Order: sequence, then C-alpha cells, then structure tokens
Amino acid sequence: MSNRRTFIKTTVLVASGLAVSGAALAKGKGKSPTFPGIIYTRNDQGIWEGKAGSHAPEVTIKDRKVTVYTNHTMTEEHYIVRHTVVTEKGKVLGSKTFYPDKDKKAISEYKIPDNISGRLYATSFCNKHDFWLTEFEI
Ligand SMILES: [Fe+2]
Repeated sequence: MSNRRTFIKTTVLVASGLAVSGAALAKGKGKSPTFPGIIYTRNDQGIWEGKAGSHAPEVTIKDRKVTVYTNHTMTEEHYIVRHTVVTEKGKVLGSKTFYPDKDKKAISEYKIPDNISGRLYATSFCNKHDFWLTEFEI
C-alpha cells in the first residue's frame, strides 16, 4: 500500500511539474515538453524503449468527449495508476485514479469545456514504467 501512495504522490509531483512547464510553454508556442528520463512519449521512450504501445496513452476524440486508454495489464503487481488530461497552460481538465482490484482496463473519459481549444496532454502513469504523455489537439 505504501508503494501505491508513493506512486500517486510521484504522479502528483510530476503532474505539477508538467503544469509549470505548460505555463512556460505558453511563452514559447509550438514546442513540446521534453523531460528525458522523467516523461516518456512515443518519440522518446528512453529506458523503456519498446514499451510505448502499452504505456503511451491512446486518445480518441468524439465531439468534445476525450477518451484516454492505456493498453496495459491491470494486475495487483503491475498496473496503470492514473490518467490526467491537462491543457498547454497547465490546467488539469480531469483525472482518474485506477485500482487494479476494481478497474480491469485503464480507460477514462473527459468532457472538454467549450472554451478550451488547442494542444492538450493526456498522461498515464505505470507503477513500474513511469510517466507517459501523449499530445493531442482539440
Ligand atoms: Fe507497465
């Protein structure tokens, strides 16, 4: 249980860092956040090379409903801890914490407010393979 608390705490800290970087990015439009060894993406898999397919969050958009899915196992030993959707300026639009004893899939949905547009980030945190990010536009 303490491992779970540590991962959640870490997720919050990393998400907070992303919020700060998001605010910084607002000044330098067009640049994606890169934090090698901290945040992994399909294009920067770092030490987890080959794991993007099961860790980088998949985003589907229908109207203004965003579905975030991580195609990952959900066992007590190895699972996705949390998803978030965050604006480029660091505003958290939604989040979901998963419990492997209850959640059989790492899937979450978010209704994006009408006043939000542009680049957004979906994040997914694995208890063994760290923090992953997928950029998308709405
Ligand atoms: Fe994993």
